[in-house]
Amino acid sequence: MTKPAFFITGTDTNVGKTQAACLIAKSFRDAGLRVGVMKPVETGCPVIGEKIIPQDALKLKEASGTEAELDLINPYRFTAPLAPDLAARLFKATIDFNRIRDIFVGLQAAHDVILVEGAGGLLAPAAEGRSMAELALFLGAPLLIVSANRLGTINHTLLTVSCARQMGLAIKGIILNNPVDSGNDLSREHNREHIEKLSGVPVLVEIPYSPALANTPMRLKNEEVEKLLSI
Ligand SMILES: Nc1ncnc2c1ncn2[C@@H]1O[C@H](COP(=O)(O)OP(=O)(O)O)[C@@H](O)[C@H]1O
Ligand SMILES: [Mg+2]
Repeated sequence: MTKPAFFITGTDTNVGKTQAACLIAKSFRDAGLRVGVMKPVETGCPVIGEKIIPQDALKLKEASGTEAELDLINPYRFTAPLAPDLAARLFKATIDFNRIRDIFVGLQAAHDVILVEGAGGLLAPAAEGRSMAELALFLGAPLLIVSANRLGTINHTLLTVSCARQMGLAIKGIILNNPVDSGNDLSREHNREHIEKLSGVPVLVEIPYSPALANTPMRLKNEEVEKLLSI
């Protein structure tokens, strides 16, 4: 049986892909699974000491509890806050999908389930002439789409779903995140229902706004974990 894999994409950068991936990783881990994680390309990384620090990859490593080396979790990292292909070009580097897939296959073999966080949204340039969507397709990992619950998200989510379908990508579901505390945004009460109705894709989990989320013991409910693993 093939092991479950998820490619965590978003409707945009900064919508909560890392938050969602960490929450899912911790919840799978608590359910007794060996959780593999990957952030194939990370950009906008700070330099601390002499080292480029991939912060998302470190969060994913910590949340999953994997013993995999950081260089496997994150084979490509750049300081420039640009889309992966653009950041790589600045440093005269190339992003090799085959290398990413070889590492992915190795990590998949060593874990029960694997979560891969994309960079930016689906059409972000991932390598020369190739998008993040093409990377997800190349890895054969179905999508979890993270959307930010705010005015405009219906359009952004439907565009992402439409793009995924055109590319032939399987979509497991949507994670609706609340990354900002905009209590006066009326759309927040309506987005979930309309996204599900108009896209035909289920919202599997809604993550509440919580400034200390990274440090909270918040976990998915058992039925949410089972739903994710069974669909
Ligand atoms: N549910 C939430 N509650 C509070 N802050 C959040 C929540 N989700 C995301 N954030 C914050 O929003 C920012 C973007 O989230 P992140 O997961 O890094 O997005 P992405 O991975 O899509 O770029 C981070 O500073 C994160 O801590
Ligand atoms: Mg991230």
